[in-house]
Amino acid sequence: MDIASPRKPLIAANWKMFKTPAEACAYADALLPLVAGHVRDEIAVCPTFLALASFAESVKGSNVLAGAQDMHPEKEGAYTGEISAPMLKAVGVTHVILGHSERRHYNHESDWDVNRKLLAALKQGMTPIVCIGEVQEEREEGRTNDVLLRQLKIGLDGIRPEDAGPIVIAYEPIWAIGSGQSASPGIAEETHAFIRDAVRERLGDAVADGMRILYGGSVKPSNTAFLLAQPEIDGALVGGASLDPHSFADIVKY
Ligand code: PGA
Repeated sequence: MDIASPRKPLIAANWKMFKTPAEACAYADALLPLVAGHVRDEIAVCPTFLALASFAESVKGSNVLAGAQDMHPEKEGAYTGEISAPMLKAVGVTHVILGHSERRHYNHESDWDVNRKLLAALKQGMTPIVCIGEVQEEREEGRTNDVLLRQLKIGLDGIRPEDAGPIVIAYEPIWAIGSGQSASPGIAEETHAFIRDAVRERLGDAVADGMRILYGGSVKPSNTAFLLAQPEIDGALVGGASLDPHSFADIVKY
């Protein structure tokens, strides 16, 4: 993190399909004292929909924010099994992960789906964390930048610079997710710089310079400091290593 950078790092936990509401509350009770008074970074935890309301209640008034792992782009309607942004906001949720690679893969979410959700999240005043990233084969074939450009071009379609302030991008190379092996700080830094340039081209200097670009993919206590020392890396999206409150607190306090 560059001292001169205007960007406050965001450390976000993505629990995926882990933890019941009771376990989420026990986690909040354990985490809050570990990160009490920590102001350098913004901290968000994204439980399952089912555990969100009780988690949000448990962290109310603290420096830990509650985020969702997805949302539906419509406010309400005949969409069985879905949850909307106003419903999330009603229980105190401020952040939402959009377009995670697991949703793109298992739920066939397209770049256009992500775009609709992003527009809806911004309209509702939420902080969207838009995930982009390439698979191993795309990196090996030298197609990483093309893939990221496509994800950004469609994902950010119709976004005006004056509305883009809250957007957070998470660069998550799919080959690094859950593998135990993160991207090297050098590769991550180079890719983040490419992403920021692409944002600059579309949305201008002020948006690009202010936009937080998180790294995700096997972030753990032992590699956080190396990754976040890179000037273009403005935080982390943490999966597996966020499930234990002590491990997540160590990452927050890298
Ligand atoms: P991981 O997951 O930290 O377990 O690699 C990151 C993510 O999928 O967001």
